[in-house]
Amino acid sequence: MQPFTLFAPAKVNLALHVLGRRADGYHDLDSVVAFADVGDRLTFTPADDFTITLGGPFAAALPQAGDNIIAKSWAAARAIAQKRGRALPPVQVHLEKNLPVASGIGGGSANAAAALKGFLRLAGITEIDAEIAAAGLAIGADVPVCLSGVACRMQGVGERITPLVGFTPLRAILVNPLVEVSTPAVFRGLALEKGQSCGTPVADLRDPARWRNDLASPAIALAPVIGEVLTRLAAAPGVTRAFMSGSGATCVALCTDDEVKPELETRWWVARTVLR
Ligand code: C5P
Repeated sequence: MQPFTLFAPAKVNLALHVLGRRADGYHDLDSVVAFADVGDRLTFTPADDFTITLGGPFAAALPQAGDNIIAKSWAAARAIAQKRGRALPPVQVHLEKNLPVASGIGGGSANAAAALKGFLRLAGITEIDAEIAAAGLAIGADVPVCLSGVACRMQGVGERITPLVGFTPLRAILVNPLVEVSTPAVFRGLALEKGQSCGTPVADLRDPARWRNDLASPAIALAPVIGEVLTRLAAAPGVTRAFMSGSGATCVALCTDDEVKPELETRWWVARTVLR
């Protein structure tokens, strides 16, 4: 086996409508998701044992290797390989962590999806089918959409994925003020009872003016700096829309051109990208 590298792009929620809270406590969503050309990198190298090594600018913010979400993908891939009578050779995975952690752009789910793909490839499994997507969902709600890797509508808790054919690429700036936001805490901030409905679906998949992120208010309540980022992005000439992704704190500005220059703090994480 030759070493190989997989790209784990940042995911951006262009819309994230919360439709209610299910009996199991998870939230029913209707979301429009696209992918950036910035992301993490996972390199797979033959080894005597399964090991994870970490590098890149945000490696220090990650939990110890054993707790890493990649270890969950390894366990899931082993179970799938075993069920299908395939051998899964031990491998060293090196994660180059370029994305801020707990930041609403799916870093963990993107890593889990890329890891699952890489491990299954080692077992000779290259087609992502429903069983593999379900195993991904058990690791994280955003893993199925990250396995697809293309602009999608995402519904349910993340299990219903519909590719958006003909999606027009969007020029964007991603800004993270380097505060970590806990996803469960943001959902709790919605204060919905189990079984309670709220909100409306994404009415028009092609009309960004009607999209919203229902998690923005509870996220701003936990991390007010998110509000400041949004205000600064919205004030910049050439920004057509500024919004938060996922449960934050990363915010996104859609831009008319590459010359758009919002006034941002130099310590914030900023990435210019195209969403596809
Ligand atoms: O599945 P994932 O680990 O990405 O989700 C983190 C947490 O966010 C969940 O444990 C749950 O509290 C909350 N969540 C939710 N509804 C979703 C997705 C996540 O309530 N659709």
